[in-house]
Amino acid sequence: MGLRLGDAAPNFKAQTSMGDIDLYEYLGNSWGVLFSHPADYTPVCTTELGRTAQLKDEFDKRNVKAIAVSVDSLEQHDGWIKDINETQNTTVNYPIVADSSREVATLYDMIHPNASATATVRSLFVIGPDKAVKLMITYPASTGRNFMEVLRVIDSLQLTAKHSVATPADWKQGEDVIVVPAVSTEDAIKKFPKGVKVVKPYLRYTPQPE
Ligand code: BEZ
Repeated sequence: MGLRLGDAAPNFKAQTSMGDIDLYEYLGNSWGVLFSHPADYTPVCTTELGRTAQLKDEFDKRNVKAIAVSVDSLEQHDGWIKDINETQNTTVNYPIVADSSREVATLYDMIHPNASATATVRSLFVIGPDKAVKLMITYPASTGRNFMEVLRVIDSLQLTAKHSVATPADWKQGEDVIVVPAVSTEDAIKKFPKGVKVVKPYLRYTPQPE
């Protein structure tokens, strides 16, 4: 059976464009974004890996380390990184795993045979500091991912890990959040001094804590 939310993210040791790494050591106490792409030297992947590099400050602010994966070799990664830097006006600043043996792809179920027998799909895992899988998304090869959405989910995950809140549809940093059903309205009023707006007994908003 494949990975599910809450499962321990499988650890691995691998060769990467930034040297050999052990995933857990690389992540340390940080959050992680582990994402696969179908192949080096392909257009959509070039934009995705460039975008991730451009967003380094945003990932750093959230204490998140990125790590990319494909089944290409280290030599291919090294050559392609030059193209990414040149065409996307950035510097790739995170490791890309050279997973020619498909060990990582198999551990994370990144090859979906009915989509492609050999290439990884666009899988993305957010891993918490506790090494549990917090988010899994899978996109087809033809659709580049929205990395602002990845950051938005990380904002929600980090907020909801600290407070008894959930985030509504399309929520963005700074907007009102939802009081989780497990907290009574009476307790919510004590817990959230910025106020609680009761729309229905089960639908209660409060300004974002912090
Ligand atoms: C791309 O990254 O552009 C791509 C890769 C595999 C299939 C289709 C597009």
